[in-house]
Amino acid sequence: MAMCSSSSSSSSSQKTWIVHGIVAGTAIAAAIGARAYLGRSRKFRSRVVGIIPARYASSRFEGKPLVQILGKPMIQRTWERSKLAATLDHVVVATDDERIADCCRGFGADVIMTSESCRNGTERCNEALEKLEKKYDVVVNIQGDEPLIEPEIIDGVVKALQVAPDAVFSTAVTSLKPEDGLDPNRVKCVVDNRGYAIYFSRGLIPYNKSGKVNPDFPYMLHLGIQSFDSKFLKVYSELQPTPLQLEEDLEQLKVLENGYKMKVTQAFLLKASKGRKELSLRLENIREK
Ligand SMILES: *[C@@H]1O[C@H](CO)[C@@H](O)[C@H](O)[C@H]1NC(C)=O
Ligand SMILES: *[C@@H]1O[C@H](CO)[C@@H](O)[C@H](O)[C@H]1NC(C)=O
Repeated sequence: MAMCSSSSSSSSSQKTWIVHGIVAGTAIAAAIGARAYLGRSRKFRSRVVGIIPARYASSRFEGKPLVQILGKPMIQRTWERSKLAATLDHVVVATDDERIADCCRGFGADVIMTSESCRNGTERCNEALEKLEKKYDVVVNIQGDEPLIEPEIIDGVVKALQVAPDAVFSTAVTSLKPEDGLDPNRVKCVVDNRGYAIYFSRGLIPYNKSGKVNPDFPYMLHLGIQSFDSKFLKVYSELQPTPLQLEEDLEQLKVLENGYKMKVTQAFLLKASKGRKELSLRLENIREK
């Protein structure tokens, strides 16, 4: 298969996002974090690995990680973006497929082979984590089909977990476009005033009394990135499915339904560079296939 070719020229990218904790409580959490930092030799949850789970036989698109986008395989773009995240000590691709592994080694990525029996990305991350030689406190699950992922967003979810010792999981949201309000494929999120997730839904939350999308409400769109406390990752994959999770078909709900805390970081889109717009157009074409 000649699907994979790699080129090393990296596309010019501007910083287009800033990432914030949403929170009023950030200052307090940061103070606790800072104290922990000063009090110990090592920062809380300081050892961080980014894992990009990738399989060949995606349900919707065979060989999707290897598809070329403007001259580079999708997985390479995702990996290159991830390498720019300052909080990651190590980035690995976890796959069960030799074609993907060869391609990734070709552009310089570390690859962990995982079994074919992994049913999903979370399981694959968990298996990869066990196979890694070093120990990590935090695992970021970076979806292989997110070639536009902003390193700042990766850093945002990692830092969210580092300043919130009571959370086991963190994720990111951005502003929801009003026209996407009623699209069940856009997952909405609501958070408390300290930036902890209250709920995720495919339906519009909060629901306006009028039954319409309120153009003035700052709805939040969930982004496909998660980080876990590494001890929790094992627990997570063993948690039985829960009613809300099954009804919405949203994996992360079982974390909340089991009473665990999840920290949410908010990313604001500032402006897209030309190159980035071009990339995102190509990506949409691929996704529509
Ligand atoms: C619902 O949305 C409208 C705007 O469409 C807004 O004026 C109103 O305050 C919102 N909330 C309620 C409870 O109606
Ligand atoms: C992955 O599979 C495990 C069971 O093996 C399950 O507990 C978990 O909910 C699944 N996660 C996703 C993302 O579907």
